[in-house]
Amino acid sequence: MGEMATPHLQIRPGNPDFLDLPWDRPVSSWDHHRLVEMPTGIHRHPVVFVAYEEGVFVIKELPRPLASAEYHLFRALEERTTRSAEPVGLVDRVWHDPQSEQSGAVITRYVDHSFPYRHLVSGPGFGPRRGQLLDAVAGLLVELHLAGCFWGDCSLSNLLYRYDAEAIEAVMVDGETSRLRDRLSNGQRAEDLEIMKSNLAGEMADIAAMNGVEIDRADFELGRDVEARYLSLWVELNEELVITRDESYRIRERISRLNELGFSVDDVYLDPVDGGNLVRMNIEVGGRTFHSERLRQQTGIDASENQARVILSDLAYFLAKHGSTTASGKSVGTFKWLTTSFEPIVARIGAEREGDPVQGYCDFLHHRFLLAQRRRQDMPNQEALEDWIAVGMPGFELGEPAVESIA
Ligand SMILES: Nc1ncnc2c1ncn2[C@@H]1O[C@H](COP(=O)(O)OP(=O)(O)OP(=O)(O)O)[C@@H](O)[C@H]1O
Ligand SMILES: [Mg+2]
Repeated sequence: MGEMATPHLQIRPGNPDFLDLPWDRPVSSWDHHRLVEMPTGIHRHPVVFVAYEEGVFVIKELPRPLASAEYHLFRALEERTTRSAEPVGLVDRVWHDPQSEQSGAVITRYVDHSFPYRHLVSGPGFGPRRGQLLDAVAGLLVELHLAGCFWGDCSLSNLLYRYDAEAIEAVMVDGETSRLRDRLSNGQRAEDLEIMKSNLAGEMADIAAMNGVEIDRADFELGRDVEARYLSLWVELNEELVITRDESYRIRERISRLNELGFSVDDVYLDPVDGGNLVRMNIEVGGRTFHSERLRQQTGIDASENQARVILSDLAYFLAKHGSTTASGKSVGTFKWLTTSFEPIVARIGAEREGDPVQGYCDFLHHRFLLAQRRRQDMPNQEALEDWIAVGMPGFELGEPAVESIA
């Protein structure tokens, strides 16, 4: 194939150039020292993982038009959500027919500390993790729809999962079928929910079969339950509020409720109605990064949304305890918290176990809280840390009891 065998590559800065890979052959036949094995969900297109100094990357081989559409979708979504795969490169094997399966490839960054949904399956269903899964999938769909993204193929396999303090976070990894609009119509959102329900039903039938459970005992309610949580969250975020002119506290109330749910607020629109006696409020809701943004600004720490919420309250507790209330006192206190609490504990956790050390810090905080509650007094960090390590570094207890138990 000679020089023809070097593809056109479009690569984002700060990443390897991927030129050392054997692009002249289909990825499924690669035998290369950069290849690494990683768990995956069910998928049609060949997917391989490659390790570089910069990290692990995922290469998905597919026809050029689909590759291009997916790459550009992820590029556009980057500005709107943190819960979609990070696009790194687009590969065009110009010597192939553009419709052929091997004519293109999309390179994304491996989503660190993530796992496919099969990792969450316990016996015939999701057991105690079911509630967390519902919130994760519903929350992500709401966030995508707010950003104007029609997914077109929401399924458990097209998501990856990460522990996020007491919750689970879902990340979108498959966007071949997706379209971005300024705003989605109600019909488009409903269609996306229908697709999600039908995909989840298929996946639940697979899980049942895999576990040797009769098909009519499969968890076919899962999709409907995701939809129910989606709808209640959607209503809460998009509810229009009509207030009198002396009720502006309700605007603040509304904003802090949205922030509590993790959503940032882009704009608040106030329009007079009823000849100016009443004011109608509409809120433009942004991404679900309220706490993670704040944590990054205050401390430079990168964490997911619920982790950030938990860590911010640890920081607030530290500042209160050390009497740091002025602005300069707070920055000095924050520095002290970073160097005496967060950083040494995270380093110790990294040395003790694999996985996401920031999640480890959240697990530790939770353990410290349980100890303090039991002893009815504050626990010094060092003592709580030794105790937590001694009992095997447990994570969060699962909130919801198993919904179903099939004997
Ligand atoms: N950025 C990523 N980080 C980690 N794993 C990933 C990433 N992208 C994809 N994967 C893994 O590869 C699998 C297949 O990816 P994907 O769903 O995009 O392939 P597909 O062939 O297009 O799927 P489909 O059959 O739904 O079209 C995923 O289930 C996931 O486990
Ligand atoms: Mg897929």
